[in-house]
Amino acid sequence: MDSAARAAELRSTLEQANYRYYVLDAPDMSDSEYDRLFRELVDIETANPELRTPDSPTQRVGTLPVTGFTPHRHLVPMLSLDNAFGEDEVRQFDDRVRRYLGTEGPIEYFAELKFDGASMSLTYEDGLLTIAATRGDGTTGENVLPNAKTIRGIPLRLRETLLGRIEVRGEVVMLKSVFDELNAEKSERGEQVFANPRNAAAGGLRQLDSRQTSERKLNFFAYGVGAVELGLPPNELVELQSAALKYLQELGFAIRSEYKVSKGIDGIIEFIQWVGSARPSLPFGIDGVVIKVNSKDLQEQLGNTARGPRWAIAYKFPAEQAFTKLNRIFVQVGRTGNVTPVADLEPVYVGGVTVSRATLHNFDDVERKDVREGDTVIVQRAGDVIPEVVGPVLEKRSPDAVRAMPPTVCPACETPLVRLEGLVFLKCPNSKGCPAQLSSAFKHFVGRKMMDIEGLGEKQIDRFLDLGYLTDLASIYRLKERREDLVGLDRMGESSVENVLSAIEESKTRPLPRLLFALGIPDVGERSAQDLARAFGNLERIRKLTRDDLVLVDGIGDKTARGIEQWLEDEDNQKLLNDLLEAGVAPVEAEAPISDIFEGKTFVFTGKLEKFTREDAEASVMKMGGKAAGSVSAKTHYVVAGPGAGSKLAKAEQLGVAILNEDEFLAMLPEGTL
Ligand code: IVH
Repeated sequence: MDSAARAAELRSTLEQANYRYYVLDAPDMSDSEYDRLFRELVDIETANPELRTPDSPTQRVGTLPVTGFTPHRHLVPMLSLDNAFGEDEVRQFDDRVRRYLGTEGPIEYFAELKFDGASMSLTYEDGLLTIAATRGDGTTGENVLPNAKTIRGIPLRLRETLLGRIEVRGEVVMLKSVFDELNAEKSERGEQVFANPRNAAAGGLRQLDSRQTSERKLNFFAYGVGAVELGLPPNELVELQSAALKYLQELGFAIRSEYKVSKGIDGIIEFIQWVGSARPSLPFGIDGVVIKVNSKDLQEQLGNTARGPRWAIAYKFPAEQAFTKLNRIFVQVGRTGNVTPVADLEPVYVGGVTVSRATLHNFDDVERKDVREGDTVIVQRAGDVIPEVVGPVLEKRSPDAVRAMPPTVCPACETPLVRLEGLVFLKCPNSKGCPAQLSSAFKHFVGRKMMDIEGLGEKQIDRFLDLGYLTDLASIYRLKERREDLVGLDRMGESSVENVLSAIEESKTRPLPRLLFALGIPDVGERSAQDLARAFGNLERIRKLTRDDLVLVDGIGDKTARGIEQWLEDEDNQKLLNDLLEAGVAPVEAEAPISDIFEGKTFVFTGKLEKFTREDAEASVMKMGGKAAGSVSAKTHYVVAGPGAGSKLAKAEQLGVAILNEDEFLAMLPEGTL
């Protein structure tokens, strides 16, 4: 046999082995046999470079690093999906579909896993993989072909030669086992570990050196097609979602067997429940179930909104739980003096991140749940919420597990703790002298949504407090007088000192609402800070306000007004304001509107906004003379809903408030406002 024929034979044998391993999950070749044949092919190709083909398995090991990726415009946009939280919202989706189609009878749905990875669009031309693009903004992504080729579940050539072009869509994921293995190696080498498998997968796709991608051992699961530009598209691809998926498997893609076709939504609800219970034992992370109308014809009739397809929805699981060991319970003192028990945990991957601390809320809760040090506990993390300990696993309790007693004095300043009537929190009453409260106040002040002082991290704050460099909030702005001392501290080179000091300088001109939020005035959060700034315009006015002025502000209730008044009456706080102003803090005052087109109109933004940020949208509403609010009421004029909008959208529908999508909102603004 000549080299060309042998190379062709080896290519096909190796790809067949690959297919059995990655797609059929039924390997029939040992790793050592695979390696032996692989090396033989490499040798032939090295001796005869002209025999190397773009679909050769040898192309999977990665190529020389590239300097960047070229943008790729998807033939059919990669839409995102609306979310449904809970059974009710899934049923509402079914209602909407039937209403839209004008059908009483049950719709046939196709439901499958929602893989938690990075989406990918693969273009095959005459059967050969030619482009592998990331999602990007949905219209244009980046072509990361050399990286995608290293993913063994992505066929380099389709198993049936389809003449023309086709986009195959799916998700690149990292298996949990690979994630754990790679992280164990990383931590052994003292390197930063991956935060979660999704980041590891998405980051892997964007490596400039595809050998690095190869090391991440990524997988790919197909879930659909984009453009189908084939002379005679096979029926399977154009009739049913379920048939298209099976056909993709025949073409060489791995698809998961966990899916369900059901006439009517009830069967889909059952499937969701089943997936919920199977989730922990799946080899990869999922964050929900995607429900699609099975008929492609009906999909077409339903079409898309600006947010996504009307024919599909993503059911999102409410929370994720995991087991881990609770090592210790310690207490944390917040900036208002609230004492919270916190669990120190063996790090565990839950809800998309690795968690090593979780809140236990308060000591009543610890007692009620009977959580002890040394217990195996259930940790829960829902969405972006702070992780919490749900409770102990009693069957696994060791005889050494010990109860943690509520402290009687503050761990930071030893002041006896108090418990206010009717409240569950223990509180350190030493609001002026407690170092823990002070430290929390600083951490709040520098936060991203407050003064946003990057580089002044938690560790530095505590260090500077210890050294007496920081005393009250205004002392942040005097740190520059200690430049020499700071440079002398270990880990604080000259350039990082410069960075911190310039970040501090920059923060002097943050918008007024941010300063108000940063100050830690009782009950003044992001929104009420905005309300105050809007109503009174500048700090000079605000610092002289009384309760009577405050209650007139829309959005400020009696309790908040009282809290603000008390805070303003305190001489130390007035001195703090003086010191801040003296140090050069000059908050940018609320901008005067430049137009009155939204005068008297209140907007509420909800859901995941994809075309602009909530902050920018609210700022432009104000610029146009309108108001932005946080909750929907009879006084709301417009609700602008992005994907995943939930209860606020429902309330708006109920109250008959006008609902806009992001594009419709943009269309109301003068060109270039946002
Ligand atoms: S279908 C037009 N199916 O979820 C329909 N998407 O918000 C497009 N995803 O980034 C998507 N698993 O990459 C679909 N089984 C699945 C999926 C899935 C994960 C991702 C997708 C996209 C996001 C949609």
